[in-house]
Amino acid sequence: MSTAKKNYQRITTNSLIQMKKDGEKIAMLTAYDYTFAGIVDAAGIDVILVGDSASNVIAGHETTLPITLDQMIYHASSVVRAAKRALVVVDLPFGTYQADSKEALKSAIKIMKESGGHAVKLEGGIQEKQSIERILQAGIPVMGHLGLTPQSIYKFGTYTVRAKEEAEAEQLLSDAKMLEELGCFGVVLEKIPASLANKVAESISIPVIGIGAGNHVDGQVLVLHDMLGMSKEFSPRFLRRYADLHGEITQAVTGYTEDVKSGDFPNEKEQY
Ligand code: KIV
Repeated sequence: MSTAKKNYQRITTNSLIQMKKDGEKIAMLTAYDYTFAGIVDAAGIDVILVGDSASNVIAGHETTLPITLDQMIYHASSVVRAAKRALVVVDLPFGTYQADSKEALKSAIKIMKESGGHAVKLEGGIQEKQSIERILQAGIPVMGHLGLTPQSIYKFGTYTVRAKEEAEAEQLLSDAKMLEELGCFGVVLEKIPASLANKVAESISIPVIGIGAGNHVDGQVLVLHDMLGMSKEFSPRFLRRYADLHGEITQAVTGYTEDVKSGDFPNEKEQY
């Protein structure tokens, strides 16, 4: 397995499939706005996911269910304006594709037209077959999402690890194979046993991107705000924090507040 990085000008869905063939791991993060997306893109990320996790980390909702199509388009268009190299994948939010395949296609087209995103992601396997087919037929690249699918949280009742039992694991493997056969360019596997994720990655030719699915997959995704340590509360086992922005921002804001109150800011050099 090679760790050498090819110099891709603009990452496409084909580059991701090539990366899997070459054994090059795919790095994916979420972003929801222009400023963060610009930093993440320039730092060399391969895929930016405009996740419906914006519902949690940006809007403060308990679940991903409330975010609307127009809100996703607002976030995605801000990200697209900043992304020069990364592939931008946009989540289809809850309630915009589950009713029927015609509605799914309309939602996917609206995202592509109004945000300029490069692909869509949607949650679910066999039950979304027709919608996925229809979106793909319109020339829109689709990424699947299996395992813990947060839009179904009220069905699951808990955010614990999925597919530990054999029947669910078999269904997940069969769903992943179906996504490959339909023509999806990749699949996210969330919070499932590492051994199952490994089996899926070895069974299909499209990239498998894990979050809480172990290391034997083709790439990883994390929620940007989580890996930057913006919040202290969310601490699942799979999360590695690469910064303590909660601490840094708190320190900066405290310092600023003190300086304003004491009259230290602005000084003579900071005025006209
Ligand atoms: O919305 C999101 O951020 C996601 C990732 C957790 C994969 O779907």
